[in-house]
Amino acid sequence: MYHPSFSDLTRPVRPAGAQSVDPLVDLGRVSVLIRLSGLFLVAIGAALFTQRSADAADDKPETGLTVTVTSDSRAITDVTTTPNVRLYVEAGMPPTPFLPGGKFTAVWQGAIHADLRGNFAFQATLNGKLKIEINRSTALEAAGTGETTPLGKMAPLNKGPNAFKATFTSPDRGDAFVRLDWTEKGPFTSPIPPDAFTYSVTPELLKAGQLRLGRELFLERRCVRCHADANLAEASVPELRMDAPSLEGIGVRRHSHWMARWIREPKSLRPTANMPKLLHGPQAQEDAEAIAAYLATLQTGGPVKPAEARYQTKQKGVPEDEAAPAVGEPKPLYERLHCTGCHDPPGAPELDPIKLSQQGIAEKFPAGKLAEFLRAPEAGYAWTRMPNFHLSEQEATELERWLFAAAPKPTASAALAGAVILEKGRKLVQRSGCLNCHALKLENQSIAPRLADLGAGRWDQGCLAAKAGPEAKAPQFSFTAAEREALAAFGRSDRASLARRVPAEFAERQERLLNCTACHGQVDFVPPLEVLGGRLKPEWAAKFMAGDIPHKIRYDFHPRGEPWLEARMPAFRSRAELLALGMAEQHGYPPKSPVEPPVNTTLGEIGRKLVGKDGGFSCVSCHAVGPLLAMEVFESEGVNLALSADRLLPDYYRRWVRAPTSIDPQTKMPVYFEEGKSPLTDILDGDGEKQITAIWEYLRLRDKMPAPNTGAQ
Ligand code: HEC
Ligand code: HEC
Ligand code: HEC
Ligand code: HEC
Ligand code: HEC
Repeated sequence: MYHPSFSDLTRPVRPAGAQSVDPLVDLGRVSVLIRLSGLFLVAIGAALFTQRSADAADDKPETGLTVTVTSDSRAITDVTTTPNVRLYVEAGMPPTPFLPGGKFTAVWQGAIHADLRGNFAFQATLNGKLKIEINRSTALEAAGTGETTPLGKMAPLNKGPNAFKATFTSPDRGDAFVRLDWTEKGPFTSPIPPDAFTYSVTPELLKAGQLRLGRELFLERRCVRCHADANLAEASVPELRMDAPSLEGIGVRRHSHWMARWIREPKSLRPTANMPKLLHGPQAQEDAEAIAAYLATLQTGGPVKPAEARYQTKQKGVPEDEAAPAVGEPKPLYERLHCTGCHDPPGAPELDPIKLSQQGIAEKFPAGKLAEFLRAPEAGYAWTRMPNFHLSEQEATELERWLFAAAPKPTASAALAGAVILEKGRKLVQRSGCLNCHALKLENQSIAPRLADLGAGRWDQGCLAAKAGPEAKAPQFSFTAAEREALAAFGRSDRASLARRVPAEFAERQERLLNCTACHGQVDFVPPLEVLGGRLKPEWAAKFMAGDIPHKIRYDFHPRGEPWLEARMPAFRSRAELLALGMAEQHGYPPKSPVEPPVNTTLGEIGRKLVGKDGGFSCVSCHAVGPLLAMEVFESEGVNLALSADRLLPDYYRRWVRAPTSIDPQTKMPVYFEEGKSPLTDILDGDGEKQITAIWEYLRLRDKMPAPNTGAQ
């Protein structure tokens, strides 16, 4: 998964209100998506239904590999794509949502590319068996119970594509995992960059992708809220529990004329709405107005006001006046926080069809309520995709003012409604299915067939009918033909995938739907998304993504006042934990970090010397250590070293300090250990690897790290 794009990629982009279901309308979008996304899923919709894009899909190989997974117990096969030969599947858990748990075999296929002709050696860390074949000859064959294999023999790679195949068999006991690395020069290996692999789209891949798309639509559109299934227990896909905004007290938080328009036709206001159109027939407009009038009377309860945020964006110990922004006209907060990654600015014509418009914002939010929403978008709606930016009250107010000033002014105002209309609105809310998705203390009187009763042959009826008749009672989702086909394919499956939780697959899907790459890999200093699972401890990443770490890692300003990183990571609380596990598993790391032995304090003391000035490497010039600010920061400050042991996987730490430029060619962090040797020959015999371990032992003291030598006597 490389360059996913925003909002369900499968959703058509049409002018607001348009009702076209012609798959050709989607073609322009789909070809954009093929370019935007290594994930072929998106190409699928059209590829299956129109010759044109099927040809387009064959044109150029995609980055990554296909991986075909077969379950040993029932000989079922699933095929998908992946950036690398890495996986982690906990014992007994399913390797993909479409296979049962238990033993399995995974076969990666595609081509591997070298910039120039050369010899490469492979190495794997694994529990299970692995065989690597390049141009049909074996480059590595290994079995392991958790350790790293010796380097395989040198395998010649021609310039351009070389046929690549990797076969992994899961172990009899324990978690199955594999992480394949390579090296051109040895002895230290590194992960194979995703763009070194390519694959071609096959019919099997398209078919499996269609099923994935169907399942994704089923989850995202919350079908299970109305078509319930008592068998979907705790172990199920977490999105089955996805909620919708609470309607308690909604009358205070949203304008009623906006609600009437939304309820009448959500897609007229937001083409990517998940909420279906529920009111049909000639009286639909009146019904929508009655519901909105009733909702407007709900004035109490609902989400509570967020407490004052205490999110730290300036380093402790930096005097306030020194942390002033650089001179010049400051950019609006909306740009500094990179809201623009997912939204067009209000007032602007729709610049990018993939971004959510802010055009109707003044129609929707009463004064003060937009700021309240921005401070806690997840209040009353845990599964919202809008993340929490840890805004202070002042920042939220500034954003509200700015957005209202830029947005078109509201044109309508609420009409007063009498008791009869209010009563009608209440009944409609009870009967139309609203309460299947939305929380409100009111009896739900809607009925819909149970999931188990939706026979495979019926998946072109009701909610999936191509054209709703005048008498239709089912909700309307405005699916494209491709989407309906995908849902029908899902309807024909055994649907057991709804009960299977696969963190790596969850992470892949959510990263795409949540648009993480709006910032990651886009904004300076915001690391590319692809590296994070191989860099961070999942426990720390989960906390950070949930918003439970109350400070930035890279602060707004350097100690001397130069800008460092004004964007901040917003919190995605509902998904954070499973995202973190999934990101680790995508990279072949366990969902729980192994317990490390107690700190070796003797080595730690040596590490302290190495980090300091006068006889050390002077890491403190660029890195803060706990409360000690970095000493000589220009534009290359590193992160506070007291955070590293909690954040970084030990593997990643070693690879980084050994050869930072092999991970980030642009980094300003110097290379200290050429070929594993240290220039400080009098410490630990000048053995680079031992010195790297000593520094790690020092970093592991975390907030108890004694200050390093700053050369300040
Ligand atoms: C708001 C509740 C609601 C939601 C959400 C919902 N449905 Fe339905 N669905 C219904 C109702 C009610 C009917 C029966 C309509 C009728 O009686 O004609 C129905 C009918 C159907 C039928 C036809 C059943 C038959 O035997 O005729 C299918 C198939 C179906 N829905 C699939 C889906 C799928 C797939 C989704 C998610 C994309 C979904 N539904 C979401 C309420 C809902
Ligand atoms: C990662 C993508 C992303 C970023 C970044 C983002 N938003 Fe959002 N925002 C969303 C999504 C998705 C929704 C729709 C939420 C839903 O209904 O689940 C949304 C909804 C909103 C809404 C409600 C609009 C409506 O029509 O309902 C406002 C207002 C908003 N965002 C403002 C902001 C501001 C201000 C920022 C920057 C501080 C920001 N957003 C940054 C994704 C994002
Ligand atoms: C299948 C689930 C589902 C059903 C049924 C449903 N909604 Fe929604 N509704 C949502 C979701 C999800 C959102 C958030 C926006 C989105 O993603 O479409 C939403 C948004 C809303 C909002 C805007 C709330 C806000 O704070 O932004 C209102 C009002 C609303 N729905 C009212 C209704 C009413 C009234 C009904 C019944 C006529 C209804 N909904 C039926 C899922 C549903
Ligand atoms: C609005 C921009 C934005 C979006 C959208 C965003 N991030 Fe971030 N993310 C950042 C910034 C900025 C940082 C660096 C934070 C810091 O240094 O304090 C960051 C840091 C992180 C980190 C910690 C990296 C490290 O090396 O410590 C993780 C993990 C992360 N993001 C995951 C995600 C995921 C997953 C998503 C999508 C669900 C996402 N981010 C969406 C801006 C964003
Ligand atoms: C010239 C400045 C400079 C010096 C000196 C320096 N670093 Fe760095 N270091 C950086 C920069 C810049 C980064 C990347 C920061 C980022 O990702 O935003 C970095 C990153 C790191 C990281 C990874 C941090 C992370 O969490 O991703 C570690 C660990 C690290 N440095 C350790 C050291 C050690 C140990 C020394 C001394 C042996 C050292 N650095 C010396 C500038 C420096």
